[in-house]
Amino acid sequence: MNIEQQLETQLAKAPVVPLIGASDPAVAVKTANALSAGGLRIIEVVLRTDEAVDCMEAIVKETSGLIVGAGTVLTVEQAEEVISRGAQFVVSPGLVDEVAEYCLERSVPMFAGTMTAGEVQRAYALGLRTVKFFPASLAGGVPMLKALSSVFRDMRFMPTGGVSADNLGEFLAVPSVIACGGSWLTPAAEIEAGNFEAITNLARAAVTAASAARP
Ligand code: 3PG
Repeated sequence: MNIEQQLETQLAKAPVVPLIGASDPAVAVKTANALSAGGLRIIEVVLRTDEAVDCMEAIVKETSGLIVGAGTVLTVEQAEEVISRGAQFVVSPGLVDEVAEYCLERSVPMFAGTMTAGEVQRAYALGLRTVKFFPASLAGGVPMLKALSSVFRDMRFMPTGGVSADNLGEFLAVPSVIACGGSWLTPAAEIEAGNFEAITNLARAAVTAASAARP
């Protein structure tokens, strides 16, 4: 199975991508294992700390059965670095042609952030068939997703930004949504307190909510 097929298979089981924003690799590994124990096996490590790439690499090396990617990738240089250190997919908050092209050329799945028809169309022209919809709640939420989906009939969306346990089901009920991403599964307070069981419980609840939204 290539990475795209692995992502498809795993997202069909649990269409939720938790975000990890960490600065300590050991804590990042514990967080990833806690999410995995709750049934979430696709992890996005966001590049928002100086140690984020080390954290991502630690998860890649020290866990098993997970698909690990990097988020908040803004430049080609960052894409190059995260891929060389084990990222299996790349997520960006916006759409930069060079970053998308760099990933496409290497067959690394890439989720570029979009929020307007023009951005989705540009992503489409570049050859992307799955995009991030960001920031999902502020960009028009479910009604906007439905409007975009009606014109971009073979584009799939990963809403992220403002997705929570409360609205996960509504987003997943839109057929073009491949998965939802978010940080609600990794609250900093629980991680700082070392309460990884809480992370597992949040993951488990998301898996249950996702199954209810997509029986
Ligand atoms: C992202 O990087 O995709 C967003 O910042 C995540 O948004 P959230 O914190 O509302 O889940």
